[in-house]
Amino acid sequence: MKPVVAPVKNVLATQIAFETLHQRSYGVPGIGLIHGETGFGKTTAITHLYNQVNGIYVSARAHDSTSSLMARIVEELGAQPMHRISKSVDYIIEQMSMHERTLFIDESDYLMNDIRMLETVRDLYDGTEVPVILIGMDQIARRISSRKQFYNRISEWVEFKPADLDDVMTMAHHLFEHGIEADEALLEHLRVSSSGELRRITIGLNKIESLAIANDLDMVTLANWGKQPFHGLRD
Ligand SMILES: Nc1ncnc2c1ncn2[C@@H]1O[C@H](COP(=O)(O)OP(=O)(O)OP(=O)(O)O)[C@@H](O)[C@H]1O
Ligand SMILES: [Mg+2]
Repeated sequence: MKPVVAPVKNVLATQIAFETLHQRSYGVPGIGLIHGETGFGKTTAITHLYNQVNGIYVSARAHDSTSSLMARIVEELGAQPMHRISKSVDYIIEQMSMHERTLFIDESDYLMNDIRMLETVRDLYDGTEVPVILIGMDQIARRISSRKQFYNRISEWVEFKPADLDDVMTMAHHLFEHGIEADEALLEHLRVSSSGELRRITIGLNKIESLAIANDLDMVTLANWGKQPFHGLRD
């Protein structure tokens, strides 16, 4: 399997949202929210994007405080952590403004447990007006709507959807090595049994590729695959 990011619909929607935030008109707020279920490819899409646009990426953690989160952003910017939160915030604002670097915060659900952390992220946005993009699970969209000051600054929403057959074909086309292919019926079977979740689709594609290599097949069909599960004990 090739270590590449396949341009599935959610990846393209993320890129469009980013460009829209960057080119927004004066007065339009610049916070973006990307949400969707586990394994739908959020982190992959964001990692791909932030590398292209020289963004700042940080992943929030269960035990983060405002101080630890700001310290990690400062480290990500290549500086030594600072003792005072206000110094860290000033430094981050300066770096974001100077180089127009979008801040991406993955696992942002954890920000919802701590109003101070969320407000500090809002301060980063207000101090720079450079886009800030939060990435989280499905709950985040509902929880954030009760934080009006934050919610009103969100102008781009992307909900990650389960992969459709087109997406599974795109994944197969970009990830399979040695010119291996799978027929549409097998890819549709994979889509249904993985509920369109890209993490499980990747596991399934890897197994299909192994079957092709072991049996010297260029094209793997549903009949070649048979009834074996793609993932776990049964699908
Ligand atoms: N566009 C893509 N191209 C290739 N592989 C992908 C793509 N999207 C997802 N994957 C595969 O699926 C796996 C899971 O995706 P990812 O970690 O991005 O999901 P997530 O939505 O961030 O999940 P979680 O909510 O659990 O963090 C990745 O490790 C990668 O192997
Ligand atoms: Mg993730």
